[in-house]
Amino acid sequence: MANRSNSPQRIVIIGATSGIAEHCARRWAQQGASHLTLVARSEDKLALIAQDLRVRRPALHIDCQTGDFTDPAAIQLLVDNITREGSPDIVLIAHGTLPDQSLCQQNLAINADALMINGMSPVLFAEAFITHMVATGQGTLAVIGSVAGDRGRKSNYVYGAAKGLVMRYVQGLQHRLAGSPVKVVLVKPGPTDTAMTAHLKHQGAKLASVEDVANSIVQGIQAGKPTVYAPAKWALIMMIIRHLPRFVFNRMNI
Ligand SMILES: NC(=O)c1ccc[n+]([C@@H]2O[C@H](COP(=O)([O-])OP(=O)(O)OC[C@H]3O[C@@H](n4cnc5c(N)ncnc54)[C@H](OP(=O)(O)O)[C@@H]3O)[C@@H](O)[C@H]2O)c1
Repeated sequence: MANRSNSPQRIVIIGATSGIAEHCARRWAQQGASHLTLVARSEDKLALIAQDLRVRRPALHIDCQTGDFTDPAAIQLLVDNITREGSPDIVLIAHGTLPDQSLCQQNLAINADALMINGMSPVLFAEAFITHMVATGQGTLAVIGSVAGDRGRKSNYVYGAAKGLVMRYVQGLQHRLAGSPVKVVLVKPGPTDTAMTAHLKHQGAKLASVEDVANSIVQGIQAGKPTVYAPAKWALIMMIIRHLPRFVFNRMNI
């Protein structure tokens, strides 16, 4: 597809080996982005994704970077290095894990890891990028939370709490930047068909296609929506879940 002048040019993806992020990258490549910075912990996985994107769009400039996503100093260094190369039009923060809730209850180290990678790590990336975006007065920061952050549930409240932290943090950034040209978008996918949910798929769970979810995310970011439920039906479902009275909610096995 031809390069369109109104399409975002410089895009940074943190957690670029995520299934959802990879499909967003394909969409942006197709739309005519000129420069992608892909960031993840695994150099080998990143190289495969970059190779695939280059085949899809040979003119795309792709830069791959790795780092420790759990160390605040390493996060700061990564973000400083990336932003020194140029001011991003879009930053997507996508990494996460779906921890086993019962293991998190039994083992505080597993619990702490889950809270770190799903909660603290994305918000530290967000804070570091926002500093640069505010300084340059442009760009859209998108952070992937989850519908699980909308209400604590017994089946996944450690993950839900971390995603709730992300939601509250993004809300604060949005308040801070109200009226600024810098936009902040919170993405809340519902259950989506990626490596993260492979075990649920085998149990017969109904999952959205990763292509559809990625399209909704890319469109939502383009529109600068404060919150993007993907697929959109989850906005209604979660509004109902959030408002269910406790005596009804407590009888639900979710
Ligand atoms: N799939 C769903 O149903 C669903 C629903 C709601 C929200 N989400 C959220 O959507 C985002 C993307 O998820 P996905 O479904 O695309 O998952 P995925 O394909 O399993 O990808 C997870 C990503 O997180 C990275 N990651 C995990 N632990 C890490 C660590 N300690 N350090 C650095 N990177 C780490 C993985 O890196 P490696 O490739 O190196 O493992 C990978 O890039 C996540 O924030 C997830 O919570 C997903």
